[in-house]
This record gives sequence, structure tokens and C-alpha cells, in this order.
Amino acid sequence: MSARPKISIIGAGNIGATAAHWAASKELGDVVLVDIAEGMPQGKALDLFQAAPIEGFDAKLTGSNGYEETAGSDVIIITAGLPRKPGMSRDDLLATNAKIVGDCASKAAAQSPNAIIIVISNPLDAMCTVAMRASGFPKERVVGMAGILDTARYRAFIAEALNVSVEDIQALVLGGHGDAMVPLPSYTSISGIPVTHFMSQEKLDAIVDRTRKGGGEIVALLKSGSAFYAPSAAGIQMAEAILKDKQRILPCACYLEGEYGLEGIFVGVPCLLGRKGVEKVIELKLSEKELAELHESAAGVKELVDKL
Ligand code: APR
Repeated sequence: MSARPKISIIGAGNIGATAAHWAASKELGDVVLVDIAEGMPQGKALDLFQAAPIEGFDAKLTGSNGYEETAGSDVIIITAGLPRKPGMSRDDLLATNAKIVGDCASKAAAQSPNAIIIVISNPLDAMCTVAMRASGFPKERVVGMAGILDTARYRAFIAEALNVSVEDIQALVLGGHGDAMVPLPSYTSISGIPVTHFMSQEKLDAIVDRTRKGGGEIVALLKSGSAFYAPSAAGIQMAEAILKDKQRILPCACYLEGEYGLEGIFVGVPCLLGRKGVEKVIELKLSEKELAELHESAAGVKELVDKL
């Protein structure tokens, strides 16, 4: 067994396989791909391994239809479940994906009791609750990927509109992963300069609107699935922050116990991500309007969780 960190990715579809690709090329550790489709995770792992000499990464890649190979994982990324089809909301996936995510989380957690779980399956915030309940893990070791993706969409659109580097755009998006997400223009800057210096409020509002519907825009184009490059990149950024104990401050779906006046629910907030998982939830001072929007978004998440 290598001494490299171990990342298990449950669900080797579009997001899972692309996450494996990012993880391997960044040499974050050995990767195990698990899926119910026979031969598929094995085939993808083998194919990706054969890219290693070309791309120059050292990582062991394994595919499996079971969980034994995942034993002792440091990070478990759950991407199993159905993606959206045109006309569907993320919430339409609730019942099907809750069953799948619960099954995957309990089996993976049994093999890796000390791992940190990153949930990507939708509806994201509710699936985090499912994963926490099924794994029995404490709140700091279950975290959802949504905020980084929503923020990345927002940053990409701003960079494009201003013709500046994506790297220089800092921004924050809170709330549930859905059309009720809460972009925070007051925390949006370009190399520290407030975005309003470069852009009219009207233009920014249009970008906020496009960000909210960012996932749906891609579903409508792809027709047979949902976004996967940016979601997988975001999941791997979280895995990297954890495995390298980077202590990054990133917007993630975290389990709240009183922060922002919210209790017993996963919702997108900025947090400190390190080797222990969610090491801290960062509580910002929000305007009355922003707080109300966050609560509205959280109410939508709660409605779904109540249906579980
Ligand atoms: N165990 C393991 N894998 C499963 C299970 C299960 N019980 N059920 C389904 N899968 C697998 C499917 O076989 C498929 O390969 O999950 C994979 C999902 O891959 P895609 O259909 O390509 O979907 P993807 O685009 O990767 O999205 C996965 O993430 O963003 C969310 O809404 C999206 O919920 C969806 C999930």
C-alpha cells in the first residue's frame, strides 16, 4: 500500500470520473472509483492510469463495484445519483438520490470511519443531511460542495464581462444550492477593489441572475445531464484543502447549529477547511436583506429535509 492519501469517489459518472481526473493530475493521492455499473469504474480507472505516463502524475487508480477497496480513505467524495434533465429542478431528485446517497454514505463510512465526506449529489444541502445521518459522522466531517461552484460561476461571468483575469475576482455566494442562492455583491471585489467601481448595479444584477440559474443553463444545453467540469473541480478544491490542511476559507454547505440564526440544517456559508474537515463556520455580518434571503434559502432546504 502506498503512503499517499486515499480519495474514494462514489459514483464514477460525469462528475466522479472528472473529479478523479483532477485529483490524479494534481497528485492529491491514490483514487478509488466506485459505481454500480459493472466494469465502468474499473475501465475509467485503468484508462486514467494510462494517461499517467503522458501527464506525469504518480497515483494509483482503482475501480470497483464494492467498497472494500475504499478502506482507510482520507476523503470520500459522493457523486452517486441521478443528474437533472431539462425542466427538472434539483429538488425533483430528492427521493431517488436520498436512497442512493444514504446507501453509499453508510457503506463508505463503514470502511473509512475517520474519513471526511464531501457531498456533491443533488439536491445538495438535503443530501448532506442524508450523508451525515447514514454515516453517523460528526458535523465537521460532512461537508457539501455548492458554494465554490456557485461562486466560480459568478466570478467567471464577472471576469468575462470586465475582460479581467478570473484569478483576480474575489466573491462570496451563500445559501442553499439552488435558484435561491444568495450572491453577496458587498463581498465582491477585483483585486480588493469593490466590483461597483467597474460595473453598474444593473449589470451586476444581471450577472447575479445568471449565476442563480447557472446550473439550469447548462442542463438546457446538454439535455442529457448536468454540469460536471466545474462541479468536480470545486469538489477537488475542497479535497485538496482538507488533504493538505490548507486552512482555506471557502463557501461550503456546513451543518449549522445556531450560526446565522439557523439550526440543524446544512446550508452554504463560508468555512475554514482543513485536515479535520470543517474547522470553523465563519459568521459574517449580513445586511437585513441578505440575512432574510439566506433564511428564505434555508427554509427551502428545510422543506426538503422534512420530506426525507
Ligand atoms: N452506488 C454507486 N453509484 C451509483 C449508485 C449507487 N447506489 N446509483 C447510481 N450510481 C452512479 C451511476 O451509475 C452513475 O455512473 O452514479 C453515477 C452518476 O453519474 P452521472 O449520471 O454521470 O451524473 P453526474 O453528472 O456525475 O452527477 C451526479 O451530482 O451534481 C449532482 O445533480 C447531480 O445528483 C447528480 C450527481
